[in-house]
Amino acid sequence: MVKLVYLGHSCFILSHQQDSIIFDPYINGNAGAGKIAPADVNVDYVLVSHAHADHLGDAVEICQHSNAVLVSTFEVGNLCRSQGVSRIHTGHVGGRVNFPFGYLRFTPALHGSGVPGGLACGFYLNYHQVGIYFAGDTGLFSDMKLLGQLEDIDCALLPIGDNYTMGPADAEMAVQMLRPRVVVPMHYNTFEQIAQDPVLFKENVETNGLARVEVMAPGQELEIARSS
Ligand code: NI
Ligand code: MN
Repeated sequence: MVKLVYLGHSCFILSHQQDSIIFDPYINGNAGAGKIAPADVNVDYVLVSHAHADHLGDAVEICQHSNAVLVSTFEVGNLCRSQGVSRIHTGHVGGRVNFPFGYLRFTPALHGSGVPGGLACGFYLNYHQVGIYFAGDTGLFSDMKLLGQLEDIDCALLPIGDNYTMGPADAEMAVQMLRPRVVVPMHYNTFEQIAQDPVLFKENVETNGLARVEVMAPGQELEIARSS
């Protein structure tokens, strides 16, 4: 069984008996992380979609104290190396990599990377045979359909905040293309510019029969089962 914990914004910890992963480890300054400090986070992998501060967050500190492997694009990986991270796996959009937990794909994301010359990305993981898509910060793009055809998505983590990323209506179209079993909205209500109603998003997606939506409160856990 794979467990997902939400720490607010786009920060999640995914875990299994054997290992754990944090996505976009924005802890300091993120109200959703509550009393958790970067020093409390012990994981095996730190996945960073791009270098904006609300995503790169506390990646360097977490990698240093937990000896985690930082996984990101080449440019963001080099930035972290220059800040003292030693265990780094870099890749780029379109690439697939095997890890002890399964495999990972670097997926496209329509967004800035926060590093000159870089690209933002998302991640698809086959994590102990559970399919997880973490979209990162992205606008809607039609190649999401391709990902839905290539991979089995048990759970999709999608931004709905609008302004910097997809809003709820575009995210609903993303669900149509990705065909996940469960959707968890992210990247909303952290700042005034991304205020949204996730319950309305849930009602629309579920009324249209597209997927089950789990609106996670910060600190909440969700068990994700492999469906096939
Ligand atoms: Ni961003
Ligand atoms: Mn962001």
